[in-house]
Amino acid sequence: MGNLHIVDHPLVQHKLTMMRQKEVSTKGFRQLLIEISMLMAYEVLRDVPVHEIEIDTPLESTTGRVIDGKKLVFASILRAGSGILDGMLNVVPSARVGHIGLYRDPKTRVAVEYYFKMPSDLHERDVVVVDPMLATGNSAVAAIDRLKEYQPKSIKFVCLLTCPEGVAAMQAAHPDVAIYTAALDRELDADGYIVPGLGDAGDRIFGTK
Ligand code: URA
Repeated sequence: MGNLHIVDHPLVQHKLTMMRQKEVSTKGFRQLLIEISMLMAYEVLRDVPVHEIEIDTPLESTTGRVIDGKKLVFASILRAGSGILDGMLNVVPSARVGHIGLYRDPKTRVAVEYYFKMPSDLHERDVVVVDPMLATGNSAVAAIDRLKEYQPKSIKFVCLLTCPEGVAAMQAAHPDVAIYTAALDRELDADGYIVPGLGDAGDRIFGTK
């Protein structure tokens, strides 16, 4: 399916299976989300630019490769994106962070922006947009529409779960944006939930239900 990357590493699949289970506590869900996000970062950032620096080991001088974390932006779609953000920041602590707040108009189901804050000079940065569930795709598409106004060097999208409807919406609007997910589930139900899914990601992260 084009630009869709399913991270099928056994550790990722194991943690996702734990997270799907309804008995998992808020604390457990949050911890698993951080762990799975760290593992997914490994795949998502596989092609991040590196440069050589000179270093001294206790024995001699040598060169080593480093990334420029400050050139990376993790853009979290509020509110559920913050769980993935925490995991990604564990592995790239110097990354910059952006936030995009969107709510779904109950009548039209259209994503309406209420907050948008990004680091400056986005045209010099690679952006990784994070949101656990790519469901209808409305929020992801709207978030990326806005980001593209600032012409970042690249944009990737990371979620835990998606479905054919979400992938189709993203690929129709933003075919240039690679999607990274731990699973492509069966479908979207009539209420906009991914099934079999894991329920409402925000409620499960924050214990709001
Ligand atoms: N958002 C969620 O939190 N869960 C879904 O299944 C779909 C959208």
